[in-house]
Amino acid sequence: MTEEEKSIQEELTLLVLLADRLIKSAKEAESSKSDCADLAKQADLLSLKLRSAVRLTTTTTTTTTTTAQSSLYERPVRRVAADVSKTLERALTLVRKCKRSGVLRQVFAITTSTDFRKVSSLLESSIADVSWLLSILDSAEGGGSLSLPPIASNDPILAMLWSSIASVQMGRLLRDRLDATNNLASLARDNDRNKKMIVEEGGVVPLLKLLKDGASPDAQMAASTALFYLVNDQDRVRSIARELAVPLIVKVLADSPIKVQVLVANLVAKMVEIDPEVQEEFGRQNATRPLVTLLSMDTVLDDPKLLQSSKTSIHSLVEINKELARNPFSHQSNSDGSSRGGHHKKDKDVEVELPELKLALKINCAKALWKLSRGSLLNSRKITETKGLLCLAKIIDKERGELRSNCLMTVMELVAVAESNSDLRRAAFKPNSPAAKAVLEQLLIVVNEETSPGLLIPAIKSVGSLARTFPAKESRIIGPLVTQLGHRNADVATEATIALSKFVSPDNFNCVEHSKAIIDFNGVPRLMNLLRANGRDQVHELVLLCYLALNVGNSKALEQARVLNVLEGAARSVVAQHPDLRELFVKAVNHLSLLGWSSYP
Ligand SMILES: *[C@@H]1O[C@H](CO)[C@@H](O)[C@H](O)[C@H]1NC(C)=O
Repeated sequence: MTEEEKSIQEELTLLVLLADRLIKSAKEAESSKSDCADLAKQADLLSLKLRSAVRLTTTTTTTTTTTAQSSLYERPVRRVAADVSKTLERALTLVRKCKRSGVLRQVFAITTSTDFRKVSSLLESSIADVSWLLSILDSAEGGGSLSLPPIASNDPILAMLWSSIASVQMGRLLRDRLDATNNLASLARDNDRNKKMIVEEGGVVPLLKLLKDGASPDAQMAASTALFYLVNDQDRVRSIARELAVPLIVKVLADSPIKVQVLVANLVAKMVEIDPEVQEEFGRQNATRPLVTLLSMDTVLDDPKLLQSSKTSIHSLVEINKELARNPFSHQSNSDGSSRGGHHKKDKDVEVELPELKLALKINCAKALWKLSRGSLLNSRKITETKGLLCLAKIIDKERGELRSNCLMTVMELVAVAESNSDLRRAAFKPNSPAAKAVLEQLLIVVNEETSPGLLIPAIKSVGSLARTFPAKESRIIGPLVTQLGHRNADVATEATIALSKFVSPDNFNCVEHSKAIIDFNGVPRLMNLLRANGRDQVHELVLLCYLALNVGNSKALEQARVLNVLEGAARSVVAQHPDLRELFVKAVNHLSLLGWSSYP
């Protein structure tokens, strides 16, 4: 509440006073006496209902301090109150005119009969609006309201939203809160206008409260579903985050029954995907921790072979086991003291942990980690600092389908970040670190054994991102990449080309050795095949040829393929489109010419 804003009770009490003043003025009227008497009757009824509203809002607000129930849902109360105030003012002005006496009285009476009808119908609407308010304020007792208040007669959705939000926020029966939440979820699913209105009308806070409450897993699931539908737009994601949603969601993620966690992990993935600020905020709130923990449940990570070779990983596994033993988030206190952690525990124990449910949870956790790591140094660091990498490698090894694919996408994003950050590269992807080894192992298996572009592309990209971490004698990588140059899917072949370029570009310390390996694995004829294929952008293949020409220009394979001709022939059109490549092409062509090659006619 802003400082200048009156409290709801003050506002409603002022309306009662205004209504009473109207009654008094109407009784003092000297003209249009019967019209005024009618207005007074309406004002009387209105005043009565307003008094009830004052009473109801007072009890609602005071009970909040003693029970865990949410406070009064003010939004419709304020809107109705503003409207009623205008009507009462207008009625008062009219009635006060009737106090005047004199010769103009007759003329006045004629012009005002329309006014009286108008004001009377406005008062009728106000009475109906306040009655409706009373019914939703009373929905705490299970009343609920299906009627349409006049104030929302042009927008029935608004009335539905108000009564649903009121019920989510103030409903005393869980059943009602659950129904109302499902209502909001289905309204939110329907269209963007509804989503926008739910946020504007203050639906987010009660949904978050219900999610956090843990009053029942079903209610948490409904709240999480409703929020999921809301977060399809950056502004909404941010306005939800402004309600301190991120730490709350991380806590629920860490400490809820599985069927709730499944939905919450999905919510995290979507929020993170849509907004980079929220992506970082989830990182700062350590969302990576419960995600990695949940992803790795049932996965044995303490492989003794792996542990022997690294002290840090023993250390971190010990830490992790400690963390698993106690509740990792139990130290966080609930700001409103409404924590019901005990209930969660009980639910969790009795929950039938269906394998499908666990699989769904892992799929969503992996998706959230994927979205969290994308382009984020902070999050990538947090994931690799825990057992994250090892866990990803194990799952890529053991699982199939969406879970495996999401983990692979996560690895792809992690190594992409490491590619542009040497600190992370050194910390997490040292060639002899067990986790990095395990990941590489899996990447090679995918590149060697899979045929589907959906798996090959992230694996090939990942190997490319790691190009700078490999020693000169790493012999297992170049061959499989060269093979993929021949994949019939053009995107796979292009990714293989790009990845190989990263091995042989001049900023790779081992570029000459890697170039030799490409030649030895018969890479040149495959590249020439790619270049002969029509209708694709060939710049990546040409760049790779330039690097090879510079690194191993005297190779027979390059000469046989007439690479000098190819480069000369393509140079003009490529450089026209990519001016930054001019220098590379000039250097490569000059280098080959100096080696005594000649262009063939
Ligand atoms: C996140 O984890 C770090 C390191 O464990 C800790 O220092 C920090 O306080 C945590 N942040 C939050 C918001 O819990």
